[in-house]
Amino acid sequence: MQLSLNGQVALITGASSGIGYGCAGTLAAAGAAVAINYNRNAEPAVQLAQQITANGGQAIALAGDVSQESDVERLFQQTVDRFGGLDILVANSGLQRDAAIAEMTLEQWNTVIDVNLTGQFLCARAAVRQFRQQGERPSAGRARGKIIHMSSVHQLIPWAGHVNYAASKGGIDLLMRSLAQEIGEERIRVNAVAPGAIATAINVDATQGDAAKALLKLIPYGRIGEPQDIANAVLWLASDLSDYVHGTTLFVDGGMTLYPEFRGNG
Ligand code: BGC
Repeated sequence: MQLSLNGQVALITGASSGIGYGCAGTLAAAGAAVAINYNRNAEPAVQLAQQITANGGQAIALAGDVSQESDVERLFQQTVDRFGGLDILVANSGLQRDAAIAEMTLEQWNTVIDVNLTGQFLCARAAVRQFRQQGERPSAGRARGKIIHMSSVHQLIPWAGHVNYAASKGGIDLLMRSLAQEIGEERIRVNAVAPGAIATAINVDATQGDAAKALLKLIPYGRIGEPQDIANAVLWLASDLSDYVHGTTLFVDGGMTLYPEFRGNG
């Protein structure tokens, strides 16, 4: 059993920045051919694909909005056309549209649910269909396919001012576990990663200056995370080293879910 993904094909959504970008580079470094999905920001995805290819790997950058059914279908088709199959889905695309409840518009609610939750459903469904249709792939490792959902500590920790986001991540938890229960017997492994505060564009205001000091009080391990922290967990979940891990959310959060506000309190 090994960490190598040689001969395997991975599709990573939302991979033009942050956690998705880190996952794409890391899975490629482990030997996977990677389809790097982006929505609006083509440049970093295209450059990453070029860089991977220049280093002897295989990569393609693909446009697509995961909240749109036809985009998702096209995305999977293009991945399979290019690389001959699919072994790993990292359903990562996610966004925030923050507002206090009385000010939150229906559009803000819908945008977050559409991308963060419906997008994960559409991608997982397309992956399951592909895994079934392609049958056994000799290069695939022990599982027939692997689905990794990108969740958040906010699948567990309520988040005032972000009810749309927290609801979407809470939804991912039961989407992931119900799906794992449904298709485990087909040797399709389904898991999630729940990042804590990772320094990316989504939380640039919270991870710098005085805001960072306040944020650090919520992290027992004493540092803000990097995309690589999450990519390492995703790599492990995608590899045979985690072959008996199924239906689990791996929290990668420096201990944020330990509720450190309760130290000396309560
Ligand atoms: C959010 C970040 C936030 C972190 C910890 C993530 O899911 O996207 O904005 O900093 O959770 O609260």
